[in-house]
Amino acid sequence: MSLLTTTTLQADGTILATWADGHSASFGAYWLRDNCRCAQCRHPGNGQKLYQIVDLPAQLSVRTLSLVPGPSLEVIWSDGHASAYGGDWLAAHQLGSTARRARQVKPVLWDQRIAADMPVASWPALLADPAQELAWLERYTALGFGLLKDVPTTPGAVAEVGDRLGYVRITNYGRLFDVKSVPNPTNLAYTAVALGVHSDNPYRHPSPGVQLLHCLEAEAPGGDTLLVDGFAAAELLRQQDLAAFELLRTVPMNFRYADAQTDLRARQTLISTDREGVLKAVHFNNRSADWLDAPADVAEAWYQAYRQFAQLLLRDELQLVFRLAPGDCVVMQNDRTLHGRTAFDPNLGRRHLQGCYIDRDAMESRRLVLRRTLNPA
Ligand SMILES: [Fe+2]
Ligand SMILES: [Zn+2]
Repeated sequence: MSLLTTTTLQADGTILATWADGHSASFGAYWLRDNCRCAQCRHPGNGQKLYQIVDLPAQLSVRTLSLVPGPSLEVIWSDGHASAYGGDWLAAHQLGSTARRARQVKPVLWDQRIAADMPVASWPALLADPAQELAWLERYTALGFGLLKDVPTTPGAVAEVGDRLGYVRITNYGRLFDVKSVPNPTNLAYTAVALGVHSDNPYRHPSPGVQLLHCLEAEAPGGDTLLVDGFAAAELLRQQDLAAFELLRTVPMNFRYADAQTDLRARQTLISTDREGVLKAVHFNNRSADWLDAPADVAEAWYQAYRQFAQLLLRDELQLVFRLAPGDCVVMQNDRTLHGRTAFDPNLGRRHLQGCYIDRDAMESRRLVLRRTLNPA
């Protein structure tokens, strides 16, 4: 409980709020007004906003300011509208740099040592127990991947898992795709060669948020799964060569996939951050890299940065290597956790995986709803 003790109108028109523990924070007039929760501003039932931003006066100032029992801050604005803000709400929405940093959700970076503590759950147990589901989703979200065991080894089961975790995204590959060696493949994934770590389908708008890969058969020697935390590699690049990091963050490359019926193209940076520098996405795919449309001098420097990043992704200590057994399903944030596989010999046994894509938002929503229901505040 954060009790407000004083509120003061400052010379620049901002409002300074001070709490019982002595700390204070200032809030701008327009920002506060747009966060008014009164029944005229927000629908009391669904919380949605009832006015347009242009409905607010261009110039807005405080007419009177007071602390009312609660205690909350009450403001009468220059246009006569009255707003009230609770001390807890203001404390949770402070805009100072320390408070904003504390609210940032930082990814937990990992390397091959995660092998000793994999984010793993049994699929039937997870289905039966929301607490286990939430625990798995929390680790999945922090690490950018998770493993499910005991998924039925029936063809198509991966799409059922996808539709339980979110909603399967249908693409030109269909609702799901098979990863096994076939003659004359249209994609290197359908051969027996090793695949370097990559994110899937960076040629789409948007790229798939989540990829599921479900193992149905794993008799062929080799074909182990490789996972790399793209965020850990990007942080290493940032530490070792900030200029290289900035090039990959700001200069987009073209990605493309084409076959007889399809021509998919997208242009995106290999590394994305928010304006505070927090990593948001890594896209890396050698097979579908098309060409770099950038000024010649920028392109030369960019290639050095690209090479350096690719070298980091090959580091042994970053590569988690494990073997998917029949019934295992790995779930990856496709714009963070890169995946690949070692080569296998299709003549020595069968290897069959099925995969599908889902969006990130439904999984994130599920995690927040489970949090709300299992740990009510
Ligand atoms: Fe892939
Ligand atoms: Zn209002």
